[in-house]
Amino acid sequence: MARSALLNIMVQAASKAGRSLIRDYGEVENLQVSRKGPADFVSNADKRAEKIIFSELKRARPTYSFLMEEGGEIKGTDGQHRWIIDPLDGTTNFLHAIPLFAVAIALERNGEIVASVIYNPIMDELYTAEKGAGAWLNNKRLRVASRRKMADAIIATGIKVTGTSNDILALRQLAAISPICAGIRRTGSASTDLAWLAAGRLDGYWEAKLGAWDIAPGSLLVKEAGGFISDLSGTNRAIEKGEVLAANEYIHASLLKTLKSIT
Ligand code: IPD
Ligand code: CA
Ligand code: CA
Repeated sequence: MARSALLNIMVQAASKAGRSLIRDYGEVENLQVSRKGPADFVSNADKRAEKIIFSELKRARPTYSFLMEEGGEIKGTDGQHRWIIDPLDGTTNFLHAIPLFAVAIALERNGEIVASVIYNPIMDELYTAEKGAGAWLNNKRLRVASRRKMADAIIATGIKVTGTSNDILALRQLAAISPICAGIRRTGSASTDLAWLAAGRLDGYWEAKLGAWDIAPGSLLVKEAGGFISDLSGTNRAIEKGEVLAANEYIHASLLKTLKSIT
């Protein structure tokens, strides 16, 4: 596979941030047993990773804009290009020393995602996509799974926990989908859900109340792997609405029908 110069820059930034996260992850494993726990430490791990990504990308393309989970929006002089970054997607996993988290970076050009990187540094799984050039896991081309029946499908989701009250609508959706599929998974990392969907490991994924940085990188992977991605009403405003439904066309249609019936 040939990567463009831009994608190479993104891969380099994600790898460097991944090395920083691996170092911090080792420390988190040690801190699990300490009374204070690793919480304070983790809140700095994502900031460290974001700084690394920011400085790599800024050095390579000084005029591009940024939207970063930690640092917010930084406007560049180039009105066409914007980096969208989640330096650590799966913070709760990271905090508990569960090795399921990723660095996620997307490049938006004139409002459209044209290149993406999602990197799990522990599994050393590098997912990349460029518009029109396919989705890849390391050097392997990706295709979404071809299962057509909900009864055979593994479906991922996420439920926001705000304080102590879970999202009631999300729980109702879960109650409707769980009995009609082969199993529900909750990875704790939205970009991993989308990457695994592109890789054919998951057959469907829905979630609401997300940030643009949770959806943008994986959205291109799903599209380039032949999948469908929409918001929960079936329109193509997933990133701006912060809600996502992704699957192959058959499972997407089934999930959409069920989700629309839940209010
Ligand atoms: C979170 C993860 C999780 C999703 C949350 C996100 P973070 O991102 O993607 O899977 O359910 O809503 O906020 O906080 O780990 O970057
Ligand atoms: Ca996230
Ligand atoms: Ca994050």
